[in-house]
Amino acid sequence: MDAKSKNLESSLTVPSVQELSLKNPHEVPQRYVRDDDTQRDELHKLHLACKDWGVFQMVNHGVSSVNNMGNEVKRFFELPLQEKKRWAQKPASLEGYGQAFVTSQEQKLDWNDMIFLKSLPIQNRNLDLWPQNPPQFRETLEKYSEDMREEAISIMSFITLALGLEDTKISESFHEGLYDIRMNCYPPCPEPERVLGIVPHADNSAITLLVDFGDFPGLQFLKDVKWVSVEPIEGAIVANIGHIIEVMTNGIYKAPEHRAVVNKEKERLSIVTFCYPSPSIDIGPVEKLTDEDNGQVYKNMTHAEYFNRFFNRKLDQSFIDSLRL
Ligand code: OGA
Ligand code: NI
Repeated sequence: MDAKSKNLESSLTVPSVQELSLKNPHEVPQRYVRDDDTQRDELHKLHLACKDWGVFQMVNHGVSSVNNMGNEVKRFFELPLQEKKRWAQKPASLEGYGQAFVTSQEQKLDWNDMIFLKSLPIQNRNLDLWPQNPPQFRETLEKYSEDMREEAISIMSFITLALGLEDTKISESFHEGLYDIRMNCYPPCPEPERVLGIVPHADNSAITLLVDFGDFPGLQFLKDVKWVSVEPIEGAIVANIGHIIEVMTNGIYKAPEHRAVVNKEKERLSIVTFCYPSPSIDIGPVEKLTDEDNGQVYKNMTHAEYFNRFFNRKLDQSFIDSLRL
């Protein structure tokens, strides 16, 4: 375009759209197509959500198993205690029905019962801890975890695009990724202000996909030193960044602190899928995201090293800080 035609009082000559339309073309000429712009805008929004919040909510995602899974989890928690205990955690293990991360007699406790199960890959399943009551529970969980895997792969491919990365190695590694599912029950509490459903924490996953079955805001994220509630939207998936993506993006995206609060009258259920890439890929900052301006902040680790550090972390120290170079 030369300097003259930039004058906003004149317009360049382009074809008449009426004429164009009368020709009944099968395709719209490229100059009219705006898909790319829309996609670029959407990716930019995703980038800002991941960078500024570390969390976003997805509607119209098309995952059909969400409601069925919610019903099965509801039925499970409605069973008598003795029945639920058929699938209780074994000593020194997190998996199964019980309470999370109780390491001492003095420790303050969360107002939360849960069942935690490793779901994918299939060989990681400990089926003796998978409830057989309600009868459809296992089948529904199988379908649900496959759906969550598809969702994770697709979110990760958009996240890598949002970061300007062309390499699909990261998103593809979620095909062989690990998927652990935690189903939470937060019963009504006589003094909700004095307890927490889950203490503040950030997830050690790459991303976490949460479905909320409460009708009051229970999940909160820390943003600029304030707790901000997630308004539950029926059937929506809340996706948050975990420590693995924080490390891989060299801190461009951060794993947000979050917690759950409880209600005096109402119970709340949630289903949380922790998604990890394939154990065969290393966990460290992506080279393209580090340079002189953004020097490497986090260590390079194998998958095994990352989990070793997680399970042997000091509880009085921030886990993510312990991964700094
Ligand atoms: C979790 C978690 C929040 C919720 O399980 O890691 O953050 O609302 N749960 O259940
Ligand atoms: Ni969490």
